[in-house]
Amino acid sequence: MSEKMWGGRFAGRTAASVEAFTESISFDARLYRQDIAGSCAHAKMLAHQGLISEAERDQIVKGLQEIEQDIEQGNFNFRPELEDIHMNIEKTLAEKIGAAGEKLHTARSRNDQINLDIRLYLRDEIEQLIDLVIALRKGFVSLARKYLGQVMPGYTHLQRAQPVLIAHHMLAYYEMFGRDQERLADCLKRVNIMPLGAAALAGTGLPIDREFVARELGFPKVTANSMDTVGDRDFAIEFVSVAALIQIHLSRLAEELVLWSTEEFSFVNISDSFCTGSSIMPQKKNPDIPELIRGKSGRVVGNLMSLLTLLKGLPMTYNRDLQEDKEPLFDTVDTVSRCVAITADLLQNMEFNTAKTQKATAAGFMTATDLADYLVTKNIPFRQAHSIVGQAVAYGIAQSKDLAEMSLAELKKFSALIEDDVYQVLSVKGSIDSRQSTGGTSSLRVTEALVAAEKALGI
Ligand code: ARG
Repeated sequence: MSEKMWGGRFAGRTAASVEAFTESISFDARLYRQDIAGSCAHAKMLAHQGLISEAERDQIVKGLQEIEQDIEQGNFNFRPELEDIHMNIEKTLAEKIGAAGEKLHTARSRNDQINLDIRLYLRDEIEQLIDLVIALRKGFVSLARKYLGQVMPGYTHLQRAQPVLIAHHMLAYYEMFGRDQERLADCLKRVNIMPLGAAALAGTGLPIDREFVARELGFPKVTANSMDTVGDRDFAIEFVSVAALIQIHLSRLAEELVLWSTEEFSFVNISDSFCTGSSIMPQKKNPDIPELIRGKSGRVVGNLMSLLTLLKGLPMTYNRDLQEDKEPLFDTVDTVSRCVAITADLLQNMEFNTAKTQKATAAGFMTATDLADYLVTKNIPFRQAHSIVGQAVAYGIAQSKDLAEMSLAELKKFSALIEDDVYQVLSVKGSIDSRQSTGGTSSLRVTEALVAAEKALGI
């Protein structure tokens, strides 16, 4: 006789290599809390429905609580021959309390049990990640407040384009991560549905009460179709896709921080405590944190590909392939949570070099569009204005003079309509503050946006 919990129909022992190949306890042990919470709720429902006695329920719940303590204190013996977290806990319970423990798995399968465990796990992790994203967004808002009024070049194609406020750039990230926050909350709606009671795939003939379990565990509703339920990992894939996008956003920021902390840009200084040195070049101070964040986007995107491919070609309903969902999912949770948290810390450990950003904004013909717009106000069609300013820029490049450095006589050579008031337009401040369209970089709009962000985050 095999000692397996499913061993009844088996005559021979499982090969050691098969045990080692099929076990998941080495990675699903981290679901012990969720597994125990689910089992307690299930036992309470079984007693409520008269499927076990109240005394048996109490024995089960007490036994499970003791097991949880043992695991927490490192006194639990995880046995790979028991495959997974479900059977490790259930078998230990049965050894502890006897027959009552053997009733726990009534009207339940590991197929719906694992689905429940992952949902409980993700529900907590998503809530924590939302808090981390909020803290990160606060970081951008406080930088926006700190540098309000300070300017920097805005880029397209990584070429200097138009002057912007540093605060505008920071609030761009506030918006970007705001969408991520919304996506997390939205994905949580589909995670937060109670699957237990689907049993192996077809439901159960025993008189269970799924809504009772849902209430016990704080789920607003139960899943609708038992077959869909046990084969469904969409909710996990959805989470990982949201997490991948968060990681990509972090990576874009990381790329900017790497660039900005070069000698060539010198727009920011990351504090010593958030940089590392080189083992050979004594002068080096490297932006390793942003680099690692950028690098880790590869694993998170890889995890998303793993999970999508995992489902491809799986027939209804549960298939053992699904056990492969956990490592990419756990790795995604760990990686993205750590990256969001350290990025929020990093924002508090960097400073803008405003002398540099200001100097960079003064050069590069960044007010050329403003000059074109100025000519438009003098009734010159925009296309003609564009061409006139293009000629002025070409002249400026040849003479090593920015537009604002040209005399009125020089500017008038390109259009007689240019008057003395042009210098207001050609100044960085004038350029920025003219951009009062909704969502633009003028001090007026940015201050409004900043105040709204502070209000939204309760700062
Ligand atoms: N360890 C399994 C998993 O992660 C639990 C469900 C196993 N079900 C089964 N019928 N073998 O998916």
